[in-house]
Amino acid sequence: MADSLTSCTTLHNGVKMPWFGLGVFLVKEGEEVINTVKTALSVGYRSIDTAAGYNNEEGVGRAIAESGVPREEIFVTSKLANDDQGYDSALKAFDTSMEKLGLETLDLYLIHWPCPSKGLYKETWKAFEKLYKEGRIRSIGVSNFNEKHLDDLLSDCEVRPMVNQVELHPRLVQKSLHDYCRRHEIQIEAWSPLMKAKIFDDPTLTEIASKHNKTPAQVVLRWDLQKEIVTIPKSIKPERIRENADVFDFTLSDDEISKIDALDRGERTGPDPDTFG
Ligand SMILES: NC(=O)c1ccc[n+]([C@@H]2O[C@H](COP(=O)([O-])OP(=O)(O)OC[C@H]3O[C@@H](n4cnc5c(N)ncnc54)[C@H](OP(=O)(O)O)[C@@H]3O)[C@@H](O)[C@H]2O)c1
Repeated sequence: MADSLTSCTTLHNGVKMPWFGLGVFLVKEGEEVINTVKTALSVGYRSIDTAAGYNNEEGVGRAIAESGVPREEIFVTSKLANDDQGYDSALKAFDTSMEKLGLETLDLYLIHWPCPSKGLYKETWKAFEKLYKEGRIRSIGVSNFNEKHLDDLLSDCEVRPMVNQVELHPRLVQKSLHDYCRRHEIQIEAWSPLMKAKIFDDPTLTEIASKHNKTPAQVVLRWDLQKEIVTIPKSIKPERIRENADVFDFTLSDDEISKIDALDRGERTGPDPDTFG
């Protein structure tokens, strides 16, 4: 069970990944992302989630280099953009990301979306396996894959994905996909864990939050951790970066977890992975 920002889950290949990290989607390249990542690292965050598509890998890399935190203490995730799927283009895109990040090795590289209509994720995965075997990436995974995409990939891969990063929050609990990932030793990771700040006025969350003297954001993030879901809330505000990480000094009861689970409406803020890209 996660008891601090440095607590890790052990992926099926033995690599340790922090349960808690910072997401930097929509954080502007340059000063904004540099300051945001440096703030998070100074607060004690040890995992940063970026993507080629966020156009801020350079700033993420610079913040890490200038932070004074040893590189090996930080878990860095990036993602392959949809337009770069395919064997050769994935290899090339990886080099570009690494150049921008200024890193020798990446901790986790994800296929950002399955894009089933392109029909390229299995070929792309071969490139991921090559980079993994060469030691350029410590772990490889997917994002926005549902059970059907995972079945297809698992039937035809040498290295099984270690992580599946999907939209997951109290209005989209993803129980069946979470159970599937558990069965296959794939760590599930929640994107938009705070539902992009759209759930804070939910009466169940506000009631539980006031009982614990915490905020609804903290309750949701604690719910992730207790359900063994890796979580990566985004904020550019130092006080919220601190608030989001202050979730290790209280415990939700089983009844409270069930009440939050019951908020599920299958409601997405993002696209449907079956039809997107
Ligand atoms: N794989 C994918 O396809 C995918 C898709 C989307 C996101 N992601 C990843 O997941 C990360 C998180 O998702 P997200 O950025 O979409 O949404 P999120 O973390 O659910 O919510 C971020 C929003 O909540 C606000 N916020 C954060 N903490 C708060 C607090 N304590 N109180 C009130 N408001 C708060 C932020 O505003 P301020 O910044 O102004 O504080 C921002 O508007 C992303 O940054 C990205 O790394 C991945």
